[in-house]
Amino acid sequence: MRTPIIAGNWKMNNTIKEALTLIEGIKANELNENVEAVVCVPFTAIKEVNALLKGTNIKLGAQNMHWEDNGAFTGEISPLMLKELEVDYCIIGHSERRQYFCETDTTVNKKIKTALIYGIKPIVCVGETLEQREDGKAEEIVRNQVINGFEGISAEDIKEIVIAYEPIWAIGTGKTASSDDANAMCSFIRDTIGELYGDEKDIVRIQYGGSVKPNNVNELMNKSDIDGALVGGASLKADDFVKLVNF
Ligand code: 13P
Repeated sequence: MRTPIIAGNWKMNNTIKEALTLIEGIKANELNENVEAVVCVPFTAIKEVNALLKGTNIKLGAQNMHWEDNGAFTGEISPLMLKELEVDYCIIGHSERRQYFCETDTTVNKKIKTALIYGIKPIVCVGETLEQREDGKAEEIVRNQVINGFEGISAEDIKEIVIAYEPIWAIGTGKTASSDDANAMCSFIRDTIGELYGDEKDIVRIQYGGSVKPNNVNELMNKSDIDGALVGGASLKADDFVKLVNF
């Protein structure tokens, strides 16, 4: 059985003060212990959020990292620095980073490899644009992202990776992929992992992301190949995040 994983991606939201208020709000509630809850917070809030999460089962995540340990990369944060802050997870290759910050499958691949060296679990994002879907290319695009992104990753390491299928047209738009379409793509991703890694495909957890809300999470989570959700907007409200974890 794969442990369900609900991760909040706060994106570029919340000052330290706001972050702590949100974490306090989440902590005031009972969370389902059989679901792994993760908050992926801005770099600036990681230290304080970590301190507040001590003694809870909620895991800590970052939203990006560089692939080098250190060096002349102005403005970047390295996995070494994130490890020092006790980060458990790091989102890698989010579509917003691919779109606005020139990330490619090649940089995603490098980041995954370094994250794994430091024991930081990558949440690797894949997904197609609306145009690609309408052109019937969604599977081809996602398949290439998986194959190229995971090049040179061992079967042992693939088990540590979470994949997030986030169709770009569903992010922040209020348009969720139908649960059947979302499951079909997650199942296709699992088959692709099967081609690359055999039986490990049954261990790798695959999330759906894109306008996941308390009112649609249950239907999505009941699907055979959806093991979790990567949530933007709804993860910024304590009550909603708690409802998502307790789907
Ligand atoms: P929304 O839940 O706001 O659509 O964002 C999804 C997302 O991009 C999570 O990484």
